[in-house]
Formats: sequence, C-alpha cells, structure tokens
Amino acid sequence: MSMPRLPLPSRDGPAGTRRWYQHAVFYEVLLRGFYDSNNDGIGDIRGLHEKLDYLQWLGVDAIWLLPFYPSPMRDGGYDISDFFNVAPDYGTLTDLSRLLDDAHRRGIRVVSDLVMNHTSDTHPWFIESRSSRDNPKSDWYVWNDDDQRWPEARVVFTDVERSNWTWDETREQYYWHRFFSHQPDLNYENPEVADTMVDMVKFWLELGFDGFRLDAAPYLFQRDGTAGEHLPETHDFIKRIRKEIESNYPGRVLLAEANGWPADVADYFGDGDECHLCFHFPLMPRLFMAVRKEQRYPITEILSQTPEIPDGCQWAIFLRNHDELTLEQVTDEERDYLISEYAKDDRMKRHMGIGRRLAPLLDGNRRLAELLYSMVLSLPGSPVIYYGDELLMGDNIYLGDRDSVRTPMQWSPDRNGGFSKADFAQLYLPPVMDPVYGSDAVNVEAQCRNPGSFLHWLRGMLIQRRAMPVLGVGTMEPTACPNPSILAYVRSGEVADAPVGSSPWGTMRPIGEGFGGGTFGRPPAPPSVVPVAAGEQDLAGQRTQAVLCVHNLSRFAQPAELSLPRWSGYTPVEVLGRVPFPVISDEPYTIALGPYGYLWFELVREPPFPEEVIG
Ligand code: GLC
Ligand code: CA
Repeated sequence: MSMPRLPLPSRDGPAGTRRWYQHAVFYEVLLRGFYDSNNDGIGDIRGLHEKLDYLQWLGVDAIWLLPFYPSPMRDGGYDISDFFNVAPDYGTLTDLSRLLDDAHRRGIRVVSDLVMNHTSDTHPWFIESRSSRDNPKSDWYVWNDDDQRWPEARVVFTDVERSNWTWDETREQYYWHRFFSHQPDLNYENPEVADTMVDMVKFWLELGFDGFRLDAAPYLFQRDGTAGEHLPETHDFIKRIRKEIESNYPGRVLLAEANGWPADVADYFGDGDECHLCFHFPLMPRLFMAVRKEQRYPITEILSQTPEIPDGCQWAIFLRNHDELTLEQVTDEERDYLISEYAKDDRMKRHMGIGRRLAPLLDGNRRLAELLYSMVLSLPGSPVIYYGDELLMGDNIYLGDRDSVRTPMQWSPDRNGGFSKADFAQLYLPPVMDPVYGSDAVNVEAQCRNPGSFLHWLRGMLIQRRAMPVLGVGTMEPTACPNPSILAYVRSGEVADAPVGSSPWGTMRPIGEGFGGGTFGRPPAPPSVVPVAAGEQDLAGQRTQAVLCVHNLSRFAQPAELSLPRWSGYTPVEVLGRVPFPVISDEPYTIALGPYGYLWFELVREPPFPEEVIG
C-alpha cells in the first residue's frame, strides 16, 4: 500500500506558517541506530527514509537528525572531519536530498545537528593547524604556550578530561577543547573560521534543511576573566546566522543546545533575533525530581525562575535525549538525590549525569511515563521525543559512554529487532536483549497491533495536542492547590479558529493492513467537526482556548482542590472523552486523581449537550 502524498505546507509562506516550530513535536533520530537499509549493521539515510511512513503515522512534525557527517566516531559523530559531506556509512548527499524532499512532501520538517564549536582532531584543518606555528590554518584553532589561560572555564566531561588544554607534540603548544581532547575548538576570533562556518550553514540550508540544532552553543568564544560561556561575542555570531536565515531562508529555525540556568538560556532568544528555540535544560531533571519526591515544587520553582521569552520564540522541552540525563543545572544536594534515586548502580553514571533511557529510569512504570509525557506535552514549549521512547525502549548500561542509550531501534521481534539483517556481530551496537526491554517484548510491530500500547497512547496524545494550539503558544497560569502533590495550570490564549479536536480514541485502531510489514495507514484526518463551543468566538476567526491540566505526582490517589476563580461559570470538558464535568464556581473545584493521574480539560463557556459528544 503506498502512502498518500500530503500537500507540502508552504515553508516560506505567511508569518503563521513560519512559526510552525511553536506548535511542532520534534522527534530525535540517531541515524546509525534507526534502520539499516543495506544490511551492513549501521543505520543509514535510506533506512530513515523507509521509515518516514512510521514517523508520519506517529504524528511528529519535525525530525532532529543527529550528526551524519564524516567522522572517526569517537563522540557519536560530534567529532566531525568534514562539514560539507555525509559519512559514507550513512549514504550520500543525494540520499539526504531525497529524504528531505520526501519528508517535506509529507509535511515533516528536518532539522540537522550543527556542530560549530569544534572539529575532530582528524579534520584536515586541524592536521594543518597543528603542523607548525606559521601555516595558513595556524590560527584556525585556539593555541597557547601554557595551559594556565582561562582557569575559570569548567571541564565538561569531568570524568574523562582533566583540563581544557592538551599538549601537541609537533607544534609544541597547547590547544583548547571544551569537550574531549580529540575535539579541538575552532577559533572564532579568526574571521576566516567564522565566514567558513556561515558558508557551511548556507550549504545545508540550500540542500533543504529546515534549520539546525546548535550543538554546544555557549562555547564559541573565550575571554580572559570569564568562564567562557554565554559571551556576548558568541551571541553576536549566532545572531549573524539568524540574519542570514531571515534574509534568505525564512521559515528555517535555530534551536540552541545551551545548558545553563533559565535566565542564561533565555539570552539565546536575544530580542527575538537569535534562536527560535532553546532547550529548557533546567526543567528536565526537575521533572524527574518532582515525581520521585511526589511534590510539585521542583517544577514550579524552576518555572517561576523562567523569564518571559520574546514574541516568536519557543522552549523545547524533553525528557530524554542521546546524552546522559545531565545534572549540571542542579544544586549539589539535588544531584546527590537524583543519583541516589535514579542511578543505584554505579554503571548508570555517565559524565555529570545518568546514562539511562526513560523507561528504565521509571522502573518501567507506564502510568508514570504517561504522567511525564502529559507534562511535556502541555507545559509551555515544543516537545522533543527521543527515538524509541515512544515505545518505552530500554537501555544497556554495560555499554560504554552514552552508547547505553543509543542501541538499535526495535522494529519487530525478528532478528536484530528488525533493525538490520546483518550478522549480529556486525551491528554497530547490540540491540537490547533483556527479558523486560528486549526486542521480543518491546517493538513497533507489536505495539502497532495493540491499541492499548504505549505507542498508541502517545500517538493519541499527539493528535489531541494538535487540536489544542493553545498548548503551543498560550500563556500558563499556575492553579493554586493546597495539596503539594498536585501540579495544575491553565494554558489559555487566542488561537486561530481551527476545529476543536474530538476524541482521538475512535481512530486508534490500526488503519490499513500489514503493520508487521512496516506499512502505516493514512494519518487520521484532523477532526472536522466542532463538537462543543469552546470558549468565546469572535468574528475575526480567532477564539479563546483554555485548557486546564492537572497532574498527580504521587503514586497514591490524591484529592485536588483547585482554585479557579477566573474560570467561574465555565465547564471543564475532559479532552479525551469530551465528558463535561460540573461547572466551576467561586468555591475551590475538587476532583480526585488516581496514582500518577493526569487530566486535561478544555474550559468552555457553554456546557455541551452530553448526547452530542458522548453518543
Ligand atoms: C553536545 C552533544 C554531545 C556531544 C557534545 C560535544 O553536548 O549533545 O553528544 O558529546 O556536544 O560535541
Ligand atoms: Ca547501513
């Protein structure tokens, strides 16, 4: 069965379209681990291309593609030896271009990882730079006679590197590196370097990428007397790239990987003239802390420290990614707590964090996983899902560094989890094979067949979220509640007059046949009827949408007495079943939530007629 072609949303269209990223759900793909099309044991571009059906079915809006450039692979491909090419193991530029075209035809954008801070030490630029002190590239990297400069700059990979300086025997000088010693930092003080990197950005935009995730954004420049992070010079350089995008590639986006406190991270939005999106790094560990403490304050406290962001910007929020669960932006006490709760075995520790996937972190507790996703899908920001976490895939803590969370995607119970037909020994990493998370138990094929699976649940939530644009751009108003285990908030604001979602659960049956064969049916059409009058409607095609989200962070059932004076007279309609609840009054509004329960309500002025929505 061939996939229906969907119209390409205009990427250079009206301003509304250019803000697609404020509503998007991103899906992070490790190319090497996704799908192996030529059975050499390594995932590749054609493999990802073959699986676009799946991603379209799942309902993601954008792919974030981890580095695919030529690399000696000593840091998962973040050690690049050629910025203008594709690693042969992954395919060719033509393969990439075809992938982009097909993704675009399906309305899926693709954002590439852009590693600007450093190269591999095998990059020809570095080989030349280190060869003498007076070659043409001698100043392309950061060299010094001693290793004492910039002592304030912290070492990122504290468990493997002692210093940010490494001695080079040939040149008889030290070179600067913020990450591994085999990843020398480029020297952005040199205009040739800066210009070359801008050319590189243009090269990939011309190929058709919809933007970039800016790897290690804070570290581009160094300056005496500073920690060498978040410097004004670095911001200026990112703004230069943004200008290039605004002038020649409108609609493409920059997403900053800037690990820092909320105020420092928010600086990467500039005045709306720098990055479109920034990962909300400090929120992530606090979600894990809150559910273990069964208290909302870690979340509310960090949200209260999170500044307003400029118009046209958006947070990117996530539970897990290809790195360790980093504990850089927590206090020492919080770090000890998180390690003691989530890394009971020393082998789970990686760098300054924990090298595990979502499901094992949660002891495989599905309700807890749903609760965390419910927060990530409804807090202000665009959600980013790490491949495999839609299945609650497991990890392998016996693998080195962050390979623990980079094992092959589990497509089916077949050989190698359906990832590759290569001999097992040839695979880039062994698939997870334990009885709990192994591909026999956890795989796409099985979860597609089972409407009660986590995969179907998440897909339903993505459909639901799409019908509630206010979750992308609305304001967030915390709802007071005396029970500290309850986290509740109202997202509200004006939204374009799109149809309100009916329950997605009616469409949860697999569509078409042959799920096992990897064929996915047409994604469900967006709901075309407006089952209830949601909020007020005005004549300009704008209406107010308000969604109340309530979360029980405790493993026991809890009462929630919610203070909702502003919404007195409104009816909460539970969004999944469209079931109207009693009208809100001036008194506290009391509901009960089961263990790790969550409920989303649309707040509507006029109560719907129950037979219309239920029958
Ligand atoms: C980023 C990447 C990480 C990599 C590092 C150095 O933090 O997410 O995987 O090791 O940059 O490039
Ligand atoms: Ca391959």
